[in-house]
Amino acid sequence: MSGRALILAGSARARGRSTSESLAGYLGERLTGHGMATTLVRVPRLRRPASLAAFLEELDGAELFVLAAPLYVDALPHLVTRALERIAAHRAGTGRAAGAMLAIVNCGFPEAAHTRVALAICRAFAVRADLEWRGGLGLGGGELIGGRRLEELGWLTRNVTRALELTAAALAAGEPVPPAAVELMARPLVHPRVFTAVADVSWVQRAVRHGALLQLGARPYEPDAAER
Ligand SMILES: Cc1cc2nc3c(=O)[nH]c(=O)nc-3n(C[C@H](O)[C@H](O)[C@H](O)COP(=O)(O)O)c2cc1C
Repeated sequence: MSGRALILAGSARARGRSTSESLAGYLGERLTGHGMATTLVRVPRLRRPASLAAFLEELDGAELFVLAAPLYVDALPHLVTRALERIAAHRAGTGRAAGAMLAIVNCGFPEAAHTRVALAICRAFAVRADLEWRGGLGLGGGELIGGRRLEELGWLTRNVTRALELTAAALAAGEPVPPAAVELMARPLVHPRVFTAVADVSWVQRAVRHGALLQLGARPYEPDAAER
């Protein structure tokens, strides 16, 4: 498929600091390689009414809409939800063009399965916005990428880059995301035990940095015995 792809990076993090943007950027470059014109927009931008209006207009002329977002509390971040609501409302009006959608959700826990509910939300949105659902990719351990370019991470992201390459080829051909891409993206970046060990060390390092090492066991919201 030649044509246009509009990619929304759904993190509120600063430019160049988010995993969603890393994934969106890599996929965008691959889609460009397959002859698609791609535009990447970061979701904080859509808070400005003029930017939102321009985005909606661009979406009407796009063959493909890609959302790359982080997982927040088993769902999508507020800024993304708000953007999707605006898009659905816009497309419920007149003059909308047909299009297709892919969603990529990355989460902090090592298991990609945490992204299932958010991907189901994206799919429900696609139906509401009259976009043909091409599929969803879930990635665990997203913090290990942390906004860096996937090309620079070599071995760590070999399955992620392969998944995005397969996805770009399929989408550019007007096909759904291949199951192999879903499976590759869901593979843990590192062994879960290694992930937990590294996470434990960084938890302690952060506590030291914030002078909270002796409070790691604190349970400030636990009701006291009288309230139980
Ligand atoms: C408010 C908030 C809620 C989060 N909730 C979850 C969650 O429910 N499950 C999970 O695995 N990660 C959760 N995370 C971790 C993010 O999904 C993870 O750090 C992700 O890699 C951030 O992507 P980004 O760099 O594109 O923003 C949460 C992060 C924040 C800030």
